[in-house]
Amino acid sequence: MNQSEPSASPEAAAPGEPVAAAQAAASTTTTLEVAEANPLRDPRDKRLPRVAGPSVLVLFGVTGDLSRRKLLPAIYDLGNRGLLPPGFSLVGFARRDWASQDFAKITHDAVKEHARTPFREEVWKQICEGLHFVPGSFDDDGAFDALAMVLKEIDETRGTGGNYAFYTSTPPKFFPVIIEQLKRTGLHKPPPGAWRRVVIEKPFGHDLESAKELNRIVDSAFRPDSVFRIDHYLGKETVQNILALRFANTLWEPIWNRGYVDHVQITMAEDIGVGTRAGYYDGIGAARDVIQNHLLQLMALVAMEDPTAFGASALRREKEKVLEAIKLPADLETSTAIGQYTEGWQGGVPVPGFLEEEGIPPDSRTETYAAVKLEIANRRWAGVPFYLRTGKRLGRRMTEVAVVFQRAPHLPFSKTDTEILGQNALVIRVQPDEGITVRFGSKVPGTAMEVRDVNMDFAYGEAFLESSPEAYERLLLDVLIGDPPLFPHQREVELQWSIIDPIEKLWAESGRRPEGYAAGTGGPASADAMMARDGRAWRRL
Ligand code: BG6
Repeated sequence: MNQSEPSASPEAAAPGEPVAAAQAAASTTTTLEVAEANPLRDPRDKRLPRVAGPSVLVLFGVTGDLSRRKLLPAIYDLGNRGLLPPGFSLVGFARRDWASQDFAKITHDAVKEHARTPFREEVWKQICEGLHFVPGSFDDDGAFDALAMVLKEIDETRGTGGNYAFYTSTPPKFFPVIIEQLKRTGLHKPPPGAWRRVVIEKPFGHDLESAKELNRIVDSAFRPDSVFRIDHYLGKETVQNILALRFANTLWEPIWNRGYVDHVQITMAEDIGVGTRAGYYDGIGAARDVIQNHLLQLMALVAMEDPTAFGASALRREKEKVLEAIKLPADLETSTAIGQYTEGWQGGVPVPGFLEEEGIPPDSRTETYAAVKLEIANRRWAGVPFYLRTGKRLGRRMTEVAVVFQRAPHLPFSKTDTEILGQNALVIRVQPDEGITVRFGSKVPGTAMEVRDVNMDFAYGEAFLESSPEAYERLLLDVLIGDPPLFPHQREVELQWSIIDPIEKLWAESGRRPEGYAAGTGGPASADAMMARDGRAWRRL
């Protein structure tokens, strides 16, 4: 994202610290050569690619679903795009009786099944040479001592220069012990000229207090600019494009305010159920799982003022200002809705209800659907409601931001001619059919003057030749390069919790039960009623 701010390791650039310039220069040359030689590069792309320097990625929780489906394939895809240095190494750490060959086999299968780019033997071979596995549990001192030795050896044999990124893809309860072990072994401290970074997967706490506590622990080991908190929605191309759409064009800005916008709808609908994640999800629910992070980040990007630059601090500052200005409606009870899926049909197949899912207690009150209405108390947005909704096992998978504009103040047509005319809307289709739609009224040909809604579409697939990188490709590369704009700051995380905490408190104290909705439908009736009270309706899923 940030092409003008220095994107090199902020840690390594600390004043007075020697920077391994010669080593960096040498490695840059080789990595660029790799990138140049990469047949997957678009030959029209004359810009220098952002390429990671010598480094090791240590993955805690490598046996988990996220590693298998997203992280390992993303590493391969980065290698395939020529964005990893030749000596790049990946160390898996988990409580499994595996040798490095077993880890290589698991990684190979994950890549074959989930990588975005085609499988190429020579790329795989290069990645495979840098794979290592350290068995052990997180409270096992011996395992972390072994990890330190493996890393030292990798530095010596593969020229990784002591640059390590530690990625915690584990259940959050293990974050503190992992950080403690890194401190005990001294792995958190970079030698002169090198860097050490930690990547924290969400959820970053389960409320404001626990987020602060976790931050105290992380802060005791790593400098703030070495901490990368993941919100993978920020790694999505379509989400970054919100910034381009708003700030690289003149078209929208004059109407992007309370003078023209009627309301904004942000939807993240999933067709999948809780799957194998019952242990994590039960007791957490939809609001903490995705509204606290992904949806509030989307809202901040849509509502923020233009940043002075596309560096981390300017971007974060503007997002923080919006998050600070978000206020909950006075009638919180009726401005929120929660649901829980019951058995139904998905894609022609019968699926169980949430309470019948493996690992979910039959009396669970966890919501699998949540909708909230929020407002922003500032000059641009006062009085414009932002409706956020998310749910599992809905009719289809779809994430979008719809900015819905006010009706024309006067329609010089007969009432019947504009009977079915809706409101203008700009819809940012985040996934899966990535693009942007503008909805406006148009005359129906052959009629005297019947006006009805039509769509003007921009589709990524048609406008650009190459497929978009996966969010985790972008984010992992940013971690290895040390480029922080796409990672929320602790202050943002805390502000997001201070919006969600009172809502959770209300739901808990009022003993409100989530309303059932059949799997494969559009969500609970109370969510529709919430909109209807405001004289509005959700967009169709
Ligand atoms: C995660 C949530 O952050 O995002 C999951 O914990 C959810 O519950 C996932 O399924 C959705 O991500 P995506 O990229 O498929 O929209």
